[in-house]
Amino acid sequence: MSDHNQVEITKMDYSEDRPEAKKPLKIMDLSLRDGHQSLFATRGRTEDMIPVAEMMDQVGFWAVETWGGATFDTMHRFLNEDPWERIRTLKRYFKKTPMSMLLRGQNLVGYRNYADDVARAFVDRAAANGIDIFRVFDALNDFRNFETVVSVIKKCGKHFQGSICYSMTEQRMGGDVYNLEYYVSKAKELEKMGTDSICIKDMAGMLAPYDAYALVKALKEAVSVPVHLHSHFTSGMASMTHLKAIEAGVDIVGTCMSPYAYRTSHPAIEPLVITLFGTNRDTGFDIKLLAEIDEILEKDILPKYRHLLNDRRVSIISANVLLHQTPGGMISNLVNQLREMDALDKINQIYAELPRVRKELGQVPLVTPTSQIIGTQTVNNVLFDDENERYKMITDQVKDLCYGLYGKTPVPINPDLQKKALKGYSRGEMPITCRPAKVLEPELEKAREDVKDLAKDLDDVLIYALYPVTGKRFLKWKYDKEEPPAEVKPRTMADVKAEQSLIKKALAGKLVEKPEKEVPPKGEGLRRFNVFVDDEYFEVGVEEEGGPPVVSYVRQIPASASVPAVPPAAVAPVPSASSGPPAVPARPALAVAPVSPPVKKSASASMAQGDGTPLSAPMPGMIISYEKGIGDAVKKGETIVILEAMKMENALPSPAAGIIKSINFSAGDSVAKGDVLCIIE
Ligand code: CO
Repeated sequence: MSDHNQVEITKMDYSEDRPEAKKPLKIMDLSLRDGHQSLFATRGRTEDMIPVAEMMDQVGFWAVETWGGATFDTMHRFLNEDPWERIRTLKRYFKKTPMSMLLRGQNLVGYRNYADDVARAFVDRAAANGIDIFRVFDALNDFRNFETVVSVIKKCGKHFQGSICYSMTEQRMGGDVYNLEYYVSKAKELEKMGTDSICIKDMAGMLAPYDAYALVKALKEAVSVPVHLHSHFTSGMASMTHLKAIEAGVDIVGTCMSPYAYRTSHPAIEPLVITLFGTNRDTGFDIKLLAEIDEILEKDILPKYRHLLNDRRVSIISANVLLHQTPGGMISNLVNQLREMDALDKINQIYAELPRVRKELGQVPLVTPTSQIIGTQTVNNVLFDDENERYKMITDQVKDLCYGLYGKTPVPINPDLQKKALKGYSRGEMPITCRPAKVLEPELEKAREDVKDLAKDLDDVLIYALYPVTGKRFLKWKYDKEEPPAEVKPRTMADVKAEQSLIKKALAGKLVEKPEKEVPPKGEGLRRFNVFVDDEYFEVGVEEEGGPPVVSYVRQIPASASVPAVPPAAVAPVPSASSGPPAVPARPALAVAPVSPPVKKSASASMAQGDGTPLSAPMPGMIISYEKGIGDAVKKGETIVILEAMKMENALPSPAAGIIKSINFSAGDSVAKGDVLCIIE
């Protein structure tokens, strides 16, 4: 029996003209979104995309992914770039290649479901600014969360690519939940919704080659729209998975330019071009053109981001993914969070607790935002639970999930946990079963009103509507109402060269380290400062000993840690950090910002009588809001502060009953673990 999907070699002699393929494989390039999101924490700047954009437009990609996912968040938060401006700018260079974005269904480009009015306005503006293809996914594969955005995508005449998150509970595809029937029925559901193509979104790189073959074959038989495979390289399987999917007749795959490929990113395009050369699936791409683009990326762009490579291990694959069926990005997030909390020794407890939490919360796929929801709750359980009580500190997002605010989970949530989570929940203790956004009040008018003195157009309003705290801060930077901090400025090649020459000197033994001196114990008058050196910062403890200030310790904060904003008033020269590793060059002119007033920060047990009870940050994060003010009476267990950690909101309860005596931070401030947020007396 002949299979029309089979790959046929039509030409063996590559020296002559290349025949046109009968059914060329289509390619979506992911370098400018998922590539740098996967490898460099989404820190790629628009100015570093422009040098290759025009050349990439000539390659013949089916589409280039340039927006969505974490870009919107990262750009306004860390890069001081207007996310909307990126689409408009790149659109000027991509004249013939359609631009694609990743849209998280009703979550848009954030981490919760937004109201329908915000969702409609957002998609409408994305289309108007230049997005042609909307790849839409929902973390629970609950396609009711597509309804609102899809109606606008269709109205704007754009391409709707419905995605199915690939997830699993066993070593390979199968089991009770994520089996072949599950994916086929999801694909049929999408076709009924009018999807223009279907994407298998293998965000964790867990789709094994032969499973991909079976899956693509089944989908090709079940639906008539093109099938697209999006697979991450994380576990090392994706190149093989691509090839088996091609043999099963997949229409489109996603790849990266080689400097942006592999690790937690995607397979590279160049080897695939040669693999399919002279077959009926030949991409037709010019390998020389690809090499020219690679050279620019390699020489002029990537050195600026090398320090952000979030996986500094020697090995480029993560066998952990195969072992724990856990997305690589999620693992590195968990490791970072544990490191920040000095609890890295608990990683094995995390691996054991994670599948338990996931099962109890409805066996959800692990993708943004559910990966953060499950990950953060797992960390909370491991750090705060004891043998008498599980789920001692439930995040607000887990409560929302239990209420049904994210949609229907693949299997029901554990009823006891659901009941516990919804006790006293603000929307009600009975979970909902309708389309989640149905219970959300419109949000756009209020957002418009909130920033009427700041926002100049709907795009501005949407930045605020999606990200109230950091969005408002960005609008202040944008309209010169506030000076943006130094760390949001781009890193230049000159910076890179200066650093490289210092490293060279250090390696040659020409930088002399000071002899190590024993650190004296920290005293009562210790004040902490954040010292900013370009993109890095150090925590410095300064103590007065009756004379001039003495620097008592310096701790380098890992580059992956979130960087707190520098208050505008902060500049004072301080001796540079000499106790860091030799590769960290000493530099003059450091900005120093007091982190907090010199309150005693320690466990409540050590607080002196009459000082009141402190509420300390249990983890590093950013203050979203204080629910109470100075002078307010609080009951024990009542929420005082909403703290955002790992993009999840945590309600911090009062450790005691009393009156709030002092509040040490305000909304938008970054805090370290142990910082005293307020005192209750
Ligand atoms: Co991806």
